[in-house]
Amino acid sequence: MNLNQISIILQNNKMKRRNYKYFVCACVLVYIYYFFGVSDYLFSKSFEDDFDYPLNVDIRSIVSDVMLGKKISVTPINYYPYRFLTNSGKCSTIEKLDLFIVVKSSMDHFGHRNAIRQTYGQETLPGRTVKTLFFLGIDGQPKSDLQRRIDQEMAEYKDIIQIDFRDHYYNNTIKTMMSFRWVYEHCSTSDFYLFTDDDMYISVRNLLDYVHERDEASQTEANPSKETNEVESSGVTRTADLDKDQLFAGYVFKSAPQRFRSSKWRVSLDEYRWNKWPAYVTAGAYVLSNKSMKVMYIASLFVKHFRFDDIYLGIVAKKVGVTPTHCPNFYFYKKAYSKLNYKDVIASHGYGNHEELIRVWNEQNTVV
Ligand SMILES: *[C@@H]1O[C@H](CO)[C@@H](O)[C@H](O)[C@H]1NC(C)=O
Ligand SMILES: *[C@@H]1O[C@H](CO)[C@@H](O)[C@H](O)[C@H]1NC(C)=O
Repeated sequence: MNLNQISIILQNNKMKRRNYKYFVCACVLVYIYYFFGVSDYLFSKSFEDDFDYPLNVDIRSIVSDVMLGKKISVTPINYYPYRFLTNSGKCSTIEKLDLFIVVKSSMDHFGHRNAIRQTYGQETLPGRTVKTLFFLGIDGQPKSDLQRRIDQEMAEYKDIIQIDFRDHYYNNTIKTMMSFRWVYEHCSTSDFYLFTDDDMYISVRNLLDYVHERDEASQTEANPSKETNEVESSGVTRTADLDKDQLFAGYVFKSAPQRFRSSKWRVSLDEYRWNKWPAYVTAGAYVLSNKSMKVMYIASLFVKHFRFDDIYLGIVAKKVGVTPTHCPNFYFYKKAYSKLNYKDVIASHGYGNHEELIRVWNEQNTVV
């Protein structure tokens, strides 16, 4: 081997090493591109300019027609084919309620439900009529031990509405919208509706104070427009005033979809094509006026299903023109407890511990 040959071999080696480096780099890039869902970010549609989530029809006029009892020509695309397996005499369409509490509960959360019955679900606020019902799915095994225990619980308390879909995190939207359907059909005369998970602390008193303050504020706001309303109602085509008496409030988020492959909350472009979520109220707890409950339920029949229930309601609200109201006294995390700290709290997450819920609730609700 002469010197020339040796230098050629060395050069070759250098090139091989360089090629190897390029190869590794390319792999890393491809990995990043794939793992972080870069293409999903590149190819998503603009939420501001291009939000045409299906169904692409004038949902406001459909909802208005339904509310006025008119015939509509558009067929609903999102009617869940499930049934209510139980009913409850607790609520009728005649009795006037101040607040109806929908608790979305898991089948095996017997302790959570008992703690709620002893605290904010008590239905004994002086001068107010409040009702509480629990909404559950099924486990698909009619004779399971779990189902037998629920049957007993139901016979004892008569406060459970069971629906024949499989209880699963990804079926949350079904649970939410089926409970909307239940209140729409069986309990539509409450002034307000609270939807909550079974691991929340709730202050019904603070909640009612909040909604009534909002109510008074919106009535004084609404007065100047009285004239235009009269003009409209004498016009040829009657439309329901969808903007009046709207309230959909809780902790409002404005964020963007997660496209990381590793995320539990990853959403593909096929599922949701836009670069932002509509403003949405986090699912733990939120309150609606009776008008908003009806408008949102009817609109949901014309809005394509989406797996996360809070975002789904945000989409429905956006499409039908309901603006979610942010209220900082709903905590989607667990607010650190002290007697004073909780004076204005309406809802706080993180109360899966039954003794704790009962202790905190009692301390906040002792009449001094
Ligand atoms: C959701 O419920 C339906 C109806 O019971 C069921 O077929 C489906 O498997 C459930 N989804 C999940 C993720 O469990
Ligand atoms: C809806 O709530 C309002 C109070 O916000 C009440 O005046 C009205 O009667 C309620 N409507 C029905 C149908 O119960």
